[in-house]
Amino acid sequence: MREKIEQLRRQINEHNYRYYVLNDPLIGDYEFDALLRELQELEAAHPEFDDPNSPTRRVGSDSTNEFATVEHRYPMLSLSNTYSLDEIREFDARVRKEVGEAEYVCELKFDGTAISLTYENGRLLRAVTRGDGTRGDDVTANVRTIRSVPLQLRGAGYPAYFEIRGEILMPFRSFERLNREREDIGETPFANPRNAAAGSLKQQSSAETARRELDCTLYSLVGDDLPFGTHYDSLMAAREWGFKISDQIALCRDMNEIDEYIRRWDKARKELPFATDGVVIKVDSFALQHRLGYTAKAPRWAVAYKFKAEQALTRLLSVDFQVGRTGAITPVANLEPVLLAGTVVKRASLHNAEQIALLDIRLGDHVYVEKGGEIIPKITGVDLSSRPMQSEPFRFITHCPCCGTELVKYEGEARHYCPNQSHCPPQIVGRMVHFISRRAMNIDGLGDETVQLLYDAGLISDVADLYRLRREDLVDLPRLGDKSADNILRSIDASRDVPFQRVLFAIGIRFVGETTAKNLALHFRSMDALMNATPEELAAAD
Ligand code: IVH
Repeated sequence: MREKIEQLRRQINEHNYRYYVLNDPLIGDYEFDALLRELQELEAAHPEFDDPNSPTRRVGSDSTNEFATVEHRYPMLSLSNTYSLDEIREFDARVRKEVGEAEYVCELKFDGTAISLTYENGRLLRAVTRGDGTRGDDVTANVRTIRSVPLQLRGAGYPAYFEIRGEILMPFRSFERLNREREDIGETPFANPRNAAAGSLKQQSSAETARRELDCTLYSLVGDDLPFGTHYDSLMAAREWGFKISDQIALCRDMNEIDEYIRRWDKARKELPFATDGVVIKVDSFALQHRLGYTAKAPRWAVAYKFKAEQALTRLLSVDFQVGRTGAITPVANLEPVLLAGTVVKRASLHNAEQIALLDIRLGDHVYVEKGGEIIPKITGVDLSSRPMQSEPFRFITHCPCCGTELVKYEGEARHYCPNQSHCPPQIVGRMVHFISRRAMNIDGLGDETVQLLYDAGLISDVADLYRLRREDLVDLPRLGDKSADNILRSIDASRDVPFQRVLFAIGIRFVGETTAKNLALHFRSMDALMNATPEELAAAD
């Protein structure tokens, strides 16, 4: 039985590798799930063959992580940064002055969060964050859930014990999905994929980290007796062992080639599925690296060239205030359309009142808009020299633009809220739109626009009304006919069967996202038990 379990583990590891590292799967999701299920069943029946590096552990667990701090065997340093090509030339000149001719490796600078992985006899032993550079947090349980991190190395020839370092990234697609979900439940979205990756790595529940769809790319092998002469060769070997090594690394012989690489990637990076913020230039030879040595903070054999965030200057025409499902007010700037990083920008996020006051943004100002690591452009400053004479400080609204209720601020939150939950139209409609969404009640016969239509027609004013709709209410509405009326009623009826945890998520309690809903449902089992729970009883749930 042990042999069978190990064979399944090898097989699943291989499929994970093909899918997540090579992007070249051999089998479909269905077959993969069948293998995984078979292994799960065997492991459950044979706990004596348990292994923390089994691919079944990739889904993580709900038990609470504790992050012990661990001292780095080799400190995790930073890089000296520059925005200037001239300073890269000075770096090259200094290197050649000290060690003679040198070749370089150019790599992208990934905008995520640094990680150090230790492998012993080919198995993942430990994953530690950078921390303060000397000591970091042990996040092994969470890192195991990242599918592109090998739990067991492939091939042979890897040192019995070594560390490899790289970056944990959240691809744009996962980042956008995560932020949509967070906004849906009234949580503040992450400002950029870097913060999202760092936050996801420090989750208490590794099952939650697993859901975040992180990726990991490695860029540096660390150890005393590495069997390689150059950085490039060491990365190529690591790629053979199953690590995800960037396809964008290049050997460059001189400043011209470095220059070429930087120019090429400053453009081409915009097509990549993850965030980058520069290029790292490293001396390739380990012997020369050793001779160049380190300053207190950074290696003297490497330098980072940072891409400039793309900026444009345009006029702030007006500010709209959007009211979300939870009543949160989001100010949105309407701008004179301007071309930025290949797209025309007309709107930009202004975040909240504090941010507007901090930058002293006023109507009619010429403002700088930037697309940095963020997807939505943001206003980063004001061109004071062109400020109109009679301009006045921006006055944030004091009352809800939709229902007129006086806005409130909650302790510790930067945003304003409209507290009129039961009568403010966008909140009512927003809650119903959330209720019917796929991951909630999944009422797919209804769309956002139909919800608005039914609300405007006075047919629904809360989610309970959905279950009282009759066929004759619907058929005469504009744009609905017999067929869609039947569709709507059928999918509302089907939603009566969704499990408790989804209902709990659907009703949109602030701070109760999918994971919390699941934990609460598992713990309390019924709406009555949950409603009667004391704060202490709530805290006892996972
Ligand atoms: S090498 C001794 N290579 O940038 C320095 N770092 O500013 C070893 N980073 O903490 C770092 N992409 O998190 C290196 N291709 C790359 C990188 C990279 C991103 C990050 C890394 C490091 C920070 C330093």
